[in-house]
Amino acid sequence: MSCRVVVLLSGRGSNFRAIVEARLPVEIVAVVSNRPQADGLVWAREQGLPTVALDHTEFADREAFDAKLADEIERHQPDLVVLAGYMRILSPAFIARFEGRLLNIHPSLLPAFPGLKTHERALAEGVKIHGCTVHFVTAQLDHGPIVIQAAVPVRADDTPETLSARVLAQEHRVYPQAIRWFAEGRLVNKCGCINLQDDSASQSVFPTES
Ligand code: GRF
Repeated sequence: MSCRVVVLLSGRGSNFRAIVEARLPVEIVAVVSNRPQADGLVWAREQGLPTVALDHTEFADREAFDAKLADEIERHQPDLVVLAGYMRILSPAFIARFEGRLLNIHPSLLPAFPGLKTHERALAEGVKIHGCTVHFVTAQLDHGPIVIQAAVPVRADDTPETLSARVLAQEHRVYPQAIRWFAEGRLVNKCGCINLQDDSASQSVFPTES
């Protein structure tokens, strides 16, 4: 039986597209957005995928919205919930409901630079290596067991935009890979560290660029 995936997004959805285009052994059973006009949701609709728009501004508070969101997701009986540019903090109750089957991608090498504006902050700190991380979501924002990371060298003339574009290209490689491993049942959580079962594949990706 194939792995049932629900995707959550808020914006352009380029990671979501990369996941679809990777033709993974998964079934995308719903694409859910808190922004009814999100480009990613429009694209999902064009692909004939089931979509759900749930406008968070119509709810009294985060808890009420997240409770409805969780019910909506649960209706689709997902094995995995994928955050693909979902730009809202999730409440602890929501995370508890899906913990262990909730993946996120973050545009930095965690635990460095959790939160927003990661590329600006990486440049301001003068780091020489930046990148992205796919991790399981836990109650601590942008923490949680790491599945795979990709490293991107920082260039002296980088701007947040140029750096972000190169990191995004790596995001599009590692997120499908992480989902494939999950679907194959190969991610093993050993005391908070994720190991890949039955394989010598590396869980880090180094840039192909020079
Ligand atoms: C990505 O940079 C991702 O790492 C972050 O939000 C951005 C979403 O981009 N969580 P997209 O909507 O997938 O194009």
